[in-house]
Amino acid sequence: MVNAAWSGLDSMSGMDDTNYQQWKTLLEARTGMILPDERRSFLTTSLGIRMREIGFTDCQAYYDYVVSGRESVMEWAVLVDRLTVHETRFFRHMAAIDMLRELILPEWMSQDEPPKTIQCWSVGCATGEEPYSLAMLLDHFQETDYCKYYFGITASDISLAALATGRKGVYHSRKLRDVDAVLRKKYFNRVSDTHFEVNEDLRKRVCFAQLNVLEMEHAPVGKVHLIFCQNMLIYFDRKRRIEILNSLVQHLHPGGVLILGAGEILGWQLPSLEKIEFNDTLAFRRLTSM
Ligand SMILES: C[S@@+](CC[C@H](N)C(=O)[O-])C[C@H]1O[C@@H](n2cnc3c(N)ncnc32)[C@H](O)[C@@H]1O
Repeated sequence: MVNAAWSGLDSMSGMDDTNYQQWKTLLEARTGMILPDERRSFLTTSLGIRMREIGFTDCQAYYDYVVSGRESVMEWAVLVDRLTVHETRFFRHMAAIDMLRELILPEWMSQDEPPKTIQCWSVGCATGEEPYSLAMLLDHFQETDYCKYYFGITASDISLAALATGRKGVYHSRKLRDVDAVLRKKYFNRVSDTHFEVNEDLRKRVCFAQLNVLEMEHAPVGKVHLIFCQNMLIYFDRKRRIEILNSLVQHLHPGGVLILGAGEILGWQLPSLEKIEFNDTLAFRRLTSM
């Protein structure tokens, strides 16, 4: 008998090298995600588990089902959720939050005509911790700094399951570890021994919508003042990252700010943008006149 480990055949999904390449190509074409070969076992294990769940034993038959079967759209939605990384947490990148609180918001509010509305977009929002962190900051800032504006946040992601979690706004108490006690008291209600719910007023400020960033023409937003795009670009190759960023910039109002994760793109700049230097945050402001 040929040892599966040596034949390139995965024992769980029955996937050989050809199948593996086929799945990798499909994933990249549909989501833009580049799966490095070190993650091969993640792909084969995830597919193997899913195949077992719905009774497939043949990897090629499952591939055909996902690509052209009667339930292909539904099945793809399940797979996307399984194959994308939704790791996130509240106030994940404090330097970016500090930059907003200490630099951007004070600047906006000290203008001759401060904005009456602040529209934001969290791109690749996963299960909602990022847009809710932003909502807490924007809401709380008004009280502590005696200014008044309306704000709304659009939170988009490719994964329907992640968006559903965000919409529900219920999180395990462990997830609230990084939320300051004042904010926790103000914006969360306990719903069980272990879980907390984002309060309704804050939930109303965040609108969750599905968007594949490879299809920016379907973006659920017009022009916004602030775009958060963190820990998502890392899954794409450089060409795609640049295409995505160039599209995002089109959605910024003049003076609007794009905040990325530190080190997510090197050497990218547009004439319409100026870089903002603040701790280790990577951020750009769209120039008012171009
Ligand atoms: C690691 S999470 C980042 C969450 C959050 N921004 C943060 O920094 O904590 C990456 C998210 O990007 C999403 N994603 C991956 N490919 C995508 C695509 N093509 N379009 C939209 N979202 C995508 C995943 O579903 C996942 O929720």
